[in-house]
Amino acid sequence: MINNQSEKPKFFGRRQGRVIHRAKSFLLDNFLPRIRIDSNKKVDLEQCFGSEKNAYALEIGFGDGDHLAALSAKMPNVGFIGVEVYRNGVANLLSLITGLKDGRDEDLAKEVTLLPGRTDNVRIYDDDVRLLFAALPDACFDKIYLLFPDPWPKSRHANRRFINPDNLRELARLLKKGGILQVATDHPIYKKWTLDTMHKNSDFRWTAKTSDDWRNPPADWAETKYQRKAVREGRRPVFFEFERM
Ligand SMILES: C[S@@+](CC[C@H](N)C(=O)[O-])C[C@H]1O[C@@H](n2cnc3c(N)ncnc32)[C@H](O)[C@@H]1O
Repeated sequence: MINNQSEKPKFFGRRQGRVIHRAKSFLLDNFLPRIRIDSNKKVDLEQCFGSEKNAYALEIGFGDGDHLAALSAKMPNVGFIGVEVYRNGVANLLSLITGLKDGRDEDLAKEVTLLPGRTDNVRIYDDDVRLLFAALPDACFDKIYLLFPDPWPKSRHANRRFINPDNLRELARLLKKGGILQVATDHPIYKKWTLDTMHKNSDFRWTAKTSDDWRNPPADWAETKYQRKAVREGRRPVFFEFERM
């Protein structure tokens, strides 16, 4: 046992939302176990993906999974680990990578497979990422994505923000030297919080040279649900990239 459950960190977000309909519920029961990561034993990435990949990436809090599904399809030689506590989000990602949607009862009787042409390069941890950290080896990821993390804007909730010295210590341990931590946010308080916190951290260097570097998404980007919502509501997202020193 790697995680001591008595020390389980407190999670303040939602674990489940609206009713999860039949097909997605079916995927949670029947497909998730095939690609789920077990945090109770040390994770060997090569073994976990069944073969060596060119690179490995971690997406923390993937929400509905749009970004993870799109990038993993575009980059079949990269092994992606997606982490999300929100059950409806996990179910949505499973639907995106298998193509199984509600409305076709006969499909539930068939064996579920990945969408045709899709490489088997996504693994999921469906709980708090902090419970997974101890199971992951040092310097194993080339890239870590933290996209539109909950901003917890009230100052009395500042200690709930994901970007904090304890989590950054773990992210620095997990990233290869020269690896990238990609953070996106649309919230003014979180923009400032991120830059202030990262500035104080000697493990990371902000790579931006001009404002275009953080105003525009990187080339390999796929829009997320929260990004679309922010833009619809008139907020401007920023895209910060920090290099592991
Ligand atoms: C504001 S949403 C953004 C979702 C998605 N990245 C997007 O841009 O649409 C933040 C997500 O992070 C997840 N989350 C927050 N803390 C987490 C943690 N410690 N481990 C795993 N997921 C977490 C939440 O469940 C939530 O779905």
